[in-house]
Amino acid sequence: MVKICCIGAGYVGGPTMAVIALKCPKIEVVVVDISVSRITAWNSEQLPIYEPGLDDVVKECRGRNLFFSTDVEKHVAEADIVFVSVNTPTKTTGLGAGKAADLTYWESAARMIADVSKSDKIVVEKSTVPVKTAEAIEKILTHNSKGINYQILSNPEFLAEGTAIQDLFHPDRVLIGGRETPAGLKAVQALKDVYAQWVPDERILTTNLWSAELSKLAANAFLAQRISSVNAMSALCEATGADVTQVAYAVGKDSRIGQKFLNASVGFGGSCFQKDILNLVYICECNGLPEVAEYWKQVIKVNDYQKNRFVNRVVASMFNTVSNKKIAVLGFAFKKDTGDTRETPAIDVCKGLLGDKARLSIYDPQVTEDQIQRDLTMNKFDWDHPIHLQPTSPTTVKQVSVVWDAYEATKDAHAVCILTEWDEFKKLDYKRIFDNMQKPAFVFDGRNIVNADELRQIGFIVYSIGKPLDSWLKDMPAVA
Ligand code: UDX
Ligand code: UDX
Ligand code: ADP
Repeated sequence: MVKICCIGAGYVGGPTMAVIALKCPKIEVVVVDISVSRITAWNSEQLPIYEPGLDDVVKECRGRNLFFSTDVEKHVAEADIVFVSVNTPTKTTGLGAGKAADLTYWESAARMIADVSKSDKIVVEKSTVPVKTAEAIEKILTHNSKGINYQILSNPEFLAEGTAIQDLFHPDRVLIGGRETPAGLKAVQALKDVYAQWVPDERILTTNLWSAELSKLAANAFLAQRISSVNAMSALCEATGADVTQVAYAVGKDSRIGQKFLNASVGFGGSCFQKDILNLVYICECNGLPEVAEYWKQVIKVNDYQKNRFVNRVVASMFNTVSNKKIAVLGFAFKKDTGDTRETPAIDVCKGLLGDKARLSIYDPQVTEDQIQRDLTMNKFDWDHPIHLQPTSPTTVKQVSVVWDAYEATKDAHAVCILTEWDEFKKLDYKRIFDNMQKPAFVFDGRNIVNADELRQIGFIVYSIGKPLDSWLKDMPAVA
């Protein structure tokens, strides 16, 4: 029986290993983590992450061939294949601060593998890490090898949160990078055999190590670039009276471009896009390619611009002041169907509104009050550390209340900001909301999910990203 151990029971490690266990009943999969609370949650009825379909998969395999443990060293020692899926934060100090990946957790995991191993191992890089990390890890392992043979593979994860289980069941592709030596090819084949249990052969791509690592950064950069492209267009649409949805539809009909990932929004978030692009930028700069670095940097600049633009629009529309006004924020997660708030645009938008002294009443169906308070008090880039090492925030933002109902959040509010596209926000009784709000009542739809015409009929002043502005908004231009 092949034994797999995954270091890091997070958004990537947890779901990926659960699906491997489901699809490969003959493989024993143990997911280990230094966070006791995370492992306890994985072993309980209340899993530590919200992901549609995940509960069923875990229930079917847990205790059969899927296990969660804090006994990191024991399970690493016993494994044939070790996946490493630990945090790779952006450095906040020192060389490359604000851009380069901090590989502290990766390196400590590698050293631990070297310490405890007694048999040959395939070590699989699963976290997004900068290109050439595998080589660094290989060096640590071989310099501490005690005669043990290690093969390093890069197997980047392409799942998106909210659809992780479906993405894992039916991946567009599985990418495995390895050394092009006989031992390297054998290791690639061993990992291929695992995925081949459910993924068609033509979807399992094999490359060299560097190509696999770079493909992950490139794929995320391309996806983010599409969003910044359509968001840049949304600003032009508002200025000129075009409708970004119509423009995106017409553009996407070109089969060379395609329809997906062209939804204008308040900005992209999530743990990957910004971090991976910053990494890419840093790698370009280190390799003497400033023009290429500048090109990708612009994707992040447009994303920041989009978030600022939204805040400015809110403030400008409300007579240039939101001071002491109650603003309801619907949605805090970085996208629907997840409770994840890492790099969510809601953080910047809320901070922007708080900077103008607004009072916020926030509702998200999956995000807790603790998490929201932590996000609004934490410094940029500080989120990406093992949970138990994250700075806890004794301070809370007083102008923020977190409620468990959209009607409660909007009661007596001057404005509603929709920041996550949760389906339930489409079905709210907006007449009831309008009746309980201050007048004029505003809706700022950062995800283009409400029917703006219907809301205008009710009496709202409505702003939708990239859509023709109504006369109120035209009369109160936002300066970006
Ligand atoms: C992303 C990649 O899609 C995935 O392949 C990779 O493995 C990890 O990073 P994820 O961050 O989970 O996945 O979610 P994704 O669906 O890509 O959305 C990222 C952000 O972009 C969200 O904030 C989302 O709301 C936003 N987005 C997405 C848009 O604003 N418009 C779109 O058209 C699509
Ligand atoms: C383009 C648009 O494709 C077309 O829809 C529009 O109506 C007019 O402009 P065209 O300029 O004739 O058409 O050719 P196209 O095939 O788009 O190529 C444009 C340039 O891009 C060429 O120099 C081509 O060699 C280059 N190209 C194209 C690349 O370098 N790489 C590619 O992957 C594709
Ligand atoms: P991702 O989205 O990439 O899965 P997460 O932050 O959700 O990232 O998960 C990473 C996990 O890795 C965390 O639960 C963290 O506690 C764990 N971790 C970090 N360093 C180590 C380590 N050296 N040994 C075991 N687990 C670790």
